[in-house]
Order: sequence, then C-alpha cells, then structure tokens
Amino acid sequence: MDAVLSVSNLTKSFGDHLVLDDISFTLKKGETLGIAGESGSGKTTLGRTLLRLIEPDSGSIIFSGIDICKCTASEIRKLRKRMQIIFQNPYSSIDPYERVFDVIRAPLVNASAGRRAEQRKMVRETLGLVGLPVSAMDKRAGEFSGGERQRIAIARAIITSPDLIIADECVSSLDVSVRAGILRLLLSLQKELGLSYIFISHDLSSLKCMSHWIAVMYHGRFVEIAPSAVLFSEPLHPYTRELLASVLLPETGAREALRDSGSAEFPSSPFSGCLYAHRCPMRDKCSMRCPQLKEVSPGHSVACNFF
Ligand SMILES: Nc1ncnc2c1ncn2[C@@H]1O[C@H](COP(=O)(O)OP(=O)(O)OP(=O)(O)O)[C@@H](O)[C@H]1O
Ligand SMILES: [Mg+2]
Repeated sequence: MDAVLSVSNLTKSFGDHLVLDDISFTLKKGETLGIAGESGSGKTTLGRTLLRLIEPDSGSIIFSGIDICKCTASEIRKLRKRMQIIFQNPYSSIDPYERVFDVIRAPLVNASAGRRAEQRKMVRETLGLVGLPVSAMDKRAGEFSGGERQRIAIARAIITSPDLIIADECVSSLDVSVRAGILRLLLSLQKELGLSYIFISHDLSSLKCMSHWIAVMYHGRFVEIAPSAVLFSEPLHPYTRELLASVLLPETGAREALRDSGSAEFPSSPFSGCLYAHRCPMRDKCSMRCPQLKEVSPGHSVACNFF
C-alpha cells in the first residue's frame, strides 16, 4: 500500500525549547496513526507542523510524493484541500453565527472550487455522510449541540475529499455519551472514503478504538511506536507502561501524582542522556546515554536503553 505521509527527522524548537525532536514515521492510505502522550509533549505542535501551519526547523514531510517543506505558500494552499484538520473544540473552531452551509463550504471557497449551486449540492451530500439532516444547511451553527457541531467540523474537513485528516483531541471536549458516535462516524468515513488519520488524544480508549498504529510521545520524541494491539499487550517503554498504568488508577490524585513524579528533577538542557531517566523505575546508566528509536520486532520500535 502507498504511503500517504512519510516524515523523516522532523525537528522544531520554540526558542531554546526543543518541542519536536527527530520525529520519523510513515502512514499508509486508509490507516490511522494515533498519537499518545501527556500534556505538553508536542502532539498539537506535531499535527500543525505536518500541515505547515507551523514551520519545521528541519526534516522532511512527504505527502503523496510531494515534499511539503519545499512547497511555496501557494502550493501549500493548493495542498490544503487534501490535508485537513479537526480541532478539539467545535464551540471555538466554528463561528456560531455563521450558517452551516457557509461553514462547510469554506474549504471549497478557499480553493475556488465550484459555483454556489454546485457547492450546495456538495454540502447536501456531505451532511448526509456525517449524519445530519439537509435542513441543517440553512441554520446557524450556534443552533446545534457540541456533538452536532463536531459533525459540522467533520463535514467541513471532508468536503474537499482529502487524503489525510489530522484530528487533534477531536472528542475530548464532548460528553462521553456523544464521543462514541463521533468515533464511529470517523471510522465509517475512513472505510468509505479511504481516509488516513493522525488521531491525537489523551484518551487511551479512544486511541485504541481508532488507531492501527500508536506512537507514544514524550518531551517531543517518539519513545515507542507499534501496531495498536501490540502497544497495549506488550508495551516496552517504561513511559508507555506508566501511561497504561495511569488509566487503571482512579481519576483523582493518583494520576496527577504519577504524571508529576520526579518532574522537579527534569534535566536541564543540554542533556545527553534519556529524558525519561529521572522518573524511570528501570534507569541505570541512562543519564549518560540517550536511547534512539530501535525496531525490536516488525513494526514495533522503542527508544529505551534496555532494548
Ligand atoms: N507557539 C508556541 N510558542 C512557544 N512554545 C510553544 C508554542 N506552541 C507550543 N509551545 C510549547 O511546546 C510544547 C508542546 O506543546 P503542544 O501544544 O504541542 O503539546 P500537546 O502535547 O499538544 O499538549 P496538550 O495535550 O495539552 O494539548 C509545550 O511546552 C508548549 O508550551
Ligand atoms: Mg494539544
């Protein structure tokens, strides 16, 4: 199967803060790469950098054979319709006073695609695909619930027939009861339209249900990447194990304690060892040796000195 996205050695700093550190992966057509990791690990920065909404410092991003790091602004604008993004909060990503028709057709307008009548036909069809009635088209977005607004955001993302959608915490702001419906919709659209997703989430159960592959991010690096089922059944990196263990703990206190454990001792830069060593139960000489991502079984790579 063809690679839709092939990323090599992607790096991004904000000032002297390295936020993406040597990220590499490949995503095939029709597949989902889930990105897990705690707050501040760089997930959103990665998603936005892949679309060049943020400029990378170095590395390459090959999308359908085109190196988008080398594209001009106008070439990027043309590519945008093939790479879309769905944000976390439809209450802020959609103007409540705008008519649903105008919200959904916005990418067509940006790409100067079709006349108004054609756009109405496309919006009508797309509403059907996301499970909203055609009558929604002439209402204002503010008349809809959070879950319905996220369906409108999904309609806006798919109307240009993209190859790739980046979904950044796209169910996190929704009530648990509507999350499953949105995830099911994304899965059925993937099947129907052959979409590839980068699915960014804090929530391991959403990641498990959506992803073919999962990459675990820690301080800007992929510390483990594996087929989804393998990551859950045979997590290797001690940070991955910590993440998986944390969902078994009750919501309050314990999880935060785990997340913060040792954070006071986070090494100051420059540091040549493993950035996880200060909170790792397995650490040995890790403060001197920075582990590189290594494939330990087919498709399963881990960046830990113990493997
Ligand atoms: N424009 C910016 N300028 C400076 N620092 C930034 C900028 N954007 C992000 N950062 C920093 O980069 C790091 C990664 O942020 P990012 O938003 O990518 O994390 P995240 O994994 O998406 O977190 P969350 O789970 O909370 O959404 C954070 O330390 C953040 O403060
Ligand atoms: Mg984020």
